[in-house]
Amino acid sequence: MRHLITPMDLSVEETMNILDLAERISIGPQLYKHVADGRQLATLFYEPSTRTRLSFESAMLSLGGQTLGFSSAAQSSASKGETVADTARVVSCYADIIAMRHPKEGAPLQASIYSRIPIINAGDGGHAHPTQTLIDMMTIRQRKGKLNNLTIGFCGDLKFGRTVHSLVSSLTRFSDNKFYFISPEELRIPDYLRDDVLNPSNSTYEEVSSLEDTLPKLDVLYMTRVQKERFFNEEEYLRLKDVYILDEEKLKLADKDMPVLHPLPRVDEISLDVDDDPRAAYFDQVQNGKYIRMALIMALLGITDPVTGRTVLDTH
Ligand code: CP
Repeated sequence: MRHLITPMDLSVEETMNILDLAERISIGPQLYKHVADGRQLATLFYEPSTRTRLSFESAMLSLGGQTLGFSSAAQSSASKGETVADTARVVSCYADIIAMRHPKEGAPLQASIYSRIPIINAGDGGHAHPTQTLIDMMTIRQRKGKLNNLTIGFCGDLKFGRTVHSLVSSLTRFSDNKFYFISPEELRIPDYLRDDVLNPSNSTYEEVSSLEDTLPKLDVLYMTRVQKERFFNEEEYLRLKDVYILDEEKLKLADKDMPVLHPLPRVDEISLDVDDDPRAAYFDQVQNGKYIRMALIMALLGITDPVTGRTVLDTH
């Protein structure tokens, strides 16, 4: 049995196989309508979500399966003190696979120790968001045709932004990528990412403060929201939340083929006028989210792809 807790739980080859399956699903979703007939996905969301929870549910329904779950801790026996470990044991009796979001870093890993069915981390605190990473990689590959030899700018809350942490970790495994980390001093990338992931890799990086100065150098821009829910001090959040706002005027500084990604939700960091720019790729990411989660459910349940006649992961 396999779980997906961080993007590093997949080899580069397995990652590419899942992206390829998601592309096949996007071309012919009707071919996959019954591959998960009789299977059940449990969505255990202890923290709010629109995209991740609904796309997981839509993905499972589109594969012929069914869904059950809760969308806040208050709806579950966590509110009475039940542990994640016991919840994982219980839900293992009712479902075939679990997608779990939790505000506490490490909660899905803890669940995976006690679960008898695959656990997918749907975002844990400021740590990781591996399914978003697959979506981001699919979208970058669609726009740029590759995942290596790219100059990628990450802008905003790089301290708490779990999607940044996961995507950077994954992209260091592809050759010759260069990263610009654009943030205020207070929201720099965490030390572990610098020391344990970036420095040992063959990727290069610079930490900078100016979005305007950096935009002309980029092949890809990844904007992020300042994560209000992770701040201990509201005053500091209010001081930092609008440091970077991308609008059409600033986009004039960027290459005409530089896609703008954002995991969403956005607050004010991307102006609405950017939505009509062909470089805006964030609603592509939303659409890809469903295909990636369909591919991932198939992969972790060991379901054969009717197009290739093969499974994409060795789940034993
Ligand atoms: N990108 C993302 O995780 O969005 P939600 O919080 O709406 O799931």
